[in-house]
Amino acid sequence: MADYIDREYEYRGLWGVPSKCGLKIVRRADLAVVVLTELYDSNPGSSVTNWSAQLATELAASEGLDPAKLVVVEHTPDRHSKLEIYDETFDRVSYSWDGGKFTDPRWTRLSKAEFEALIEGKVGAAMRESYFIDGIRAVDAKFEAQKIAFGPIAFQAARAMRDLGILESVAAAKDDGIGPGAVARSLELSAYGVGVLLEMGLSLALVKLKDDGADPLFVLGKTGHFVLYDEMTRANMDFVGDVCYAGAAALEDSIRSGKPEGLKVFGDWPTIYDGLSRLPEGVKRSWFAFDHHYSDLAFPDALPIVFAGKPSRLFDVGGNTAKWALACCRYDPDVKVTIVDLPGQLAVARRNAEAAGFGDRVSGVELNVLDPKGSFPAGADAVWMSQFLDCFSLDEVEGIMKRLRPALRPACDVFVLEPFWDRQRFEAASYSLHATSLYFTCMANGNSKMYRSDELVAAVERAGFGLAEARHGLGANSYSLLRFRTAS
Ligand SMILES: C[S@@+](CC[C@H](N)C(=O)[O-])C[C@H]1O[C@@H](n2cnc3c(N)ncnc32)[C@H](O)[C@@H]1O
Repeated sequence: MADYIDREYEYRGLWGVPSKCGLKIVRRADLAVVVLTELYDSNPGSSVTNWSAQLATELAASEGLDPAKLVVVEHTPDRHSKLEIYDETFDRVSYSWDGGKFTDPRWTRLSKAEFEALIEGKVGAAMRESYFIDGIRAVDAKFEAQKIAFGPIAFQAARAMRDLGILESVAAAKDDGIGPGAVARSLELSAYGVGVLLEMGLSLALVKLKDDGADPLFVLGKTGHFVLYDEMTRANMDFVGDVCYAGAAALEDSIRSGKPEGLKVFGDWPTIYDGLSRLPEGVKRSWFAFDHHYSDLAFPDALPIVFAGKPSRLFDVGGNTAKWALACCRYDPDVKVTIVDLPGQLAVARRNAEAAGFGDRVSGVELNVLDPKGSFPAGADAVWMSQFLDCFSLDEVEGIMKRLRPALRPACDVFVLEPFWDRQRFEAASYSLHATSLYFTCMANGNSKMYRSDELVAAVERAGFGLAEARHGLGANSYSLLRFRTAS
């Protein structure tokens, strides 16, 4: 089957009148984009707009396209008129699917750039597949709504099952399965307590029934396997439970005030970064486990790219606990790394560098990058910012980058490592990033988020930088590594 079709297409329109349009089909692994081009005077019959749902139905059947993975765009070419109504336009069409045909077309205007992005597959697979298509059945959508309604209880139930050892005990029973009574006895819990959790565990697919007699037997479900053993799930759950859970109740207030109102559960700081080193031990542990879990996975892929230019002095802005700085020292025996960060983090970074035997190669400069009077140290061969710019609003990003510019030599590379939600391979990753944005809203600073790639690039470019290189899909978590240079 062709990946790309571009031709005229003839169809029978209203009352069977012969009609035609331009047809382009771009097949991707995860979806097909069908572009219907209006031919105006050379179309004797129904326009693509008037025959939209019928055309989409007909093409899905004749071209073997999955209705759930079909993106239809209507295109009207430029008619070279002075009137705007004759300009070129692109409209994405959404439909309802009744099981046999498309109905109820709805149009959303796309910019040319958005259309090209769709065709070229610039947007991440996760975004393409489900953010554009509302293909869920009503009965499933209603279930999803209940998952949201009981979300906090579901979360606590899953965490309790993990931390009380219930999942472990079910896992240990393997295919034989185990009943609530036996789990309760082995963990010295009440049969009632274990019973209600296991029943909720069924609804969460953490466990499955092997036998549903009077004393039912439970086995571990696939979702339970991930809750129990998957490192990313553990880091996310602990982060949500320890860092975000209580403060998330103040999300609405944070949206109204633009401040991290939930942070008050830990202290009276303007941002979480001012209090990071003073958070309660367990909270701090979960914060760092979450932070490190993600960026660390991309470091091995990033190191050869950054060191291809053989920087001998690297500045790590927002270097935190010195994880990247130490990775650099291990990778290149000559490099010296200067961490630029807030005082609390620098103290930790210095301790870690000493402990790793790199005290002479890792130094620190205290700087609040939001201070309009603050200036960045000069002399870097390359600058590194990992999971750093997402801690700021786009206006702040622009301001920080403008203040960085004068400290840079002309050919200095500025590397930005970020997970962009529109560049993810898996929807679970985009979901986690969207949720992480709300941690920024209610706990971290009230005004930043995990960005879409283009919006962050645009903010850095507004500060007088040009994007020299972009690599996507680094590490298991699809990080993007952007290389900027000052624009001449
Ligand atoms: C999310 S952490 C990223 C840490 C590390 N680069 C990584 O990839 O894991 C953000 C870092 O930015 C620092 N930071 C936040 N606000 C800052 C500010 N206003 N001035 C300087 N550093 C700041 C924090 O202290 C923290 O070390």
